[in-house]
Amino acid sequence: MTFSFNILALTFLSLLTTTAITSSTTTIGVTYKPSSSPNLPTPEHVASTLQSLHIPAVHLLHPTPASIRAFAYSNISLLLTIPNSFISSFAANRSSSTDWLYNHVLPFYPRARISLISVGNDVVSSSELDPTNSDPSTVLLPAMRNLNLSLGDLGIKNIRVSTTFSFIKVMEQLFPPSTAGFLEPIDKVIIKPVLQFLDDNNSSFLIDVVPYDVYKLHSEIPIGFALFQENPFNFRDDGNTAVRYRNLFDMMVDGVVASLANSGHQNIRIIVTRTGWPSSSSISGYVEAEASQLFAEMYLKGLIAHMKSGMGTPLRKDGVAEVYIYELFDEEDDNNPNSSSSVMSARNGSRSDKTGEHQWGILYPNMTMKFDLDFSGSEKASGIKFAGWVGLFLWIFGEIVFWLL
Ligand SMILES: *[C@@H]1O[C@H](CO)[C@@H](O)[C@H](O)[C@H]1NC(C)=O
Ligand SMILES: *[C@@H]1O[C@H](CO)[C@@H](O)[C@H](O)[C@H]1NC(C)=O
Ligand SMILES: *[C@@H]1O[C@H](CO)[C@@H](O)[C@H](O)[C@H]1NC(C)=O
Ligand SMILES: *[C@@H]1O[C@H](CO)[C@@H](O)[C@H](O)[C@H]1NC(C)=O
Ligand SMILES: *[C@@H]1O[C@H](CO)[C@@H](O)[C@H](O)[C@H]1NC(C)=O
Ligand SMILES: *[C@@H]1O[C@H](CO)[C@@H](O)[C@H](O)[C@H]1NC(C)=O
Ligand SMILES: *[C@@H]1O[C@H](CO)[C@@H](O)[C@H](O)[C@H]1NC(C)=O
Ligand SMILES: *[C@@H]1O[C@H](CO)[C@@H](O)[C@H](O)[C@H]1NC(C)=O
Repeated sequence: MTFSFNILALTFLSLLTTTAITSSTTTIGVTYKPSSSPNLPTPEHVASTLQSLHIPAVHLLHPTPASIRAFAYSNISLLLTIPNSFISSFAANRSSSTDWLYNHVLPFYPRARISLISVGNDVVSSSELDPTNSDPSTVLLPAMRNLNLSLGDLGIKNIRVSTTFSFIKVMEQLFPPSTAGFLEPIDKVIIKPVLQFLDDNNSSFLIDVVPYDVYKLHSEIPIGFALFQENPFNFRDDGNTAVRYRNLFDMMVDGVVASLANSGHQNIRIIVTRTGWPSSSSISGYVEAEASQLFAEMYLKGLIAHMKSGMGTPLRKDGVAEVYIYELFDEEDDNNPNSSSSVMSARNGSRSDKTGEHQWGILYPNMTMKFDLDFSGSEKASGIKFAGWVGLFLWIFGEIVFWLL
């Protein structure tokens, strides 16, 4: 796959446009995985802090009843992701999806503003399914149907059902977005039936869009393009649509938009269930310079400013409906950082990253922000410190020279 960038000149000009605030339609939330670790704050403390930070939506991974209860008086909307290990039993027996709802939803809803439940995450490449019945094409949709039926049995009308895909696992190409499609055979056996279900039930397509992963897989992509740093030399034109892309996030989202359209489901809303940039990595014997506090801050500020600009993406003016920043706290390092497979997957840039390889958190355990992010009101695309610009300049300048050789 070629991915060359047009470069007009060598002079570096940072075009930092302060975007006008228009009517933004994207809700910006955070991903939170409740933990019983004594080092991390309780869900109640988390819920009240998120409220004071004006964060309107939370994506709960592996939700516990206690963590859902914590949000019951918060007016924060919740997206719940059920672990993949539940899928086979949901598919086999509707009483298990009903049981799950009895424990996790019924006691708290509608005070806890649960809007959507994702049946699993990246099920396509999961190894957590029941090994005796592990083909996702046979269990995923039945599990989603059963959960939908259980919701109906319990008289719950306003919670949608979906499932989450991962961009790098399901997209067949990165460029050009206009001709993107989902990978076969996943498309035919899994995604198409799911899309039909989503369309019939006014639900949303959930996908992890992590430019960092794509950047790691395609070293030719300039870092500024991945970090929302607009400058005159970093863009990529899609010849089919005459659209100019100035950041990797939009390019990835438009690949999804085009793929949905190519599947005949162009009206399904898109929710980005996780995006983010690691502020450090802890893989022994391997330094990842791009996993830095500075770049993480650039990415997240750029993302928030872009979402708040209300500009959407070139192919979808409304943009994505919701986007969740991954993640609230760094995961605790409980795997073996020495294992060769963890080093390998980090090199390949895959975020299958169980725990501890990269630190994606935006809050320290003492609940102070790692970065100066503003979720409320207006946010200007500024605030990157001067030293940051010098660092970025050197980085991009280095790449431009490389490209001219
Ligand atoms: C709750 O949040 C919704 C949007 O997420 C907002 O429209 C509403 O005013 C909020 N209610 C309160 C009491 O803050
Ligand atoms: C479904 O699960 C319930 C208990 O959760 C059990 O009593 C019932 O026998 C199961 N049905 C089937 C067909 O496995
Ligand atoms: C979802 O549940 C409703 C009942 O609440 C039912 O009418 C509908 O057919 C279900 N959808 C699917 C795709 O199974
Ligand atoms: C879900 O889709 C089915 C058809 O597959 C439809 O009958 C049902 O009304 C939909 N449910 C909701 C909640 O939209
Ligand atoms: C579909 O869902 C969206 C957002 O959840 C909502 O605004 C809209 O009214 C729903 N449409 C129907 C027909 O239920
Ligand atoms: C990783 O390797 C170092 C030395 O190679 C060793 O001291 C350390 O205990 C190892 N860590 C784990 C978790 O195995
Ligand atoms: C990483 O890439 C190498 C070669 O490109 C491949 O052999 C290896 O299996 C990949 N590892 C993972 C975890 O994807
Ligand atoms: C919170 O923790 C971070 C990192 O450990 C530290 O730098 C910061 O000073 C702490 N803030 C407060 C208010 O304790």
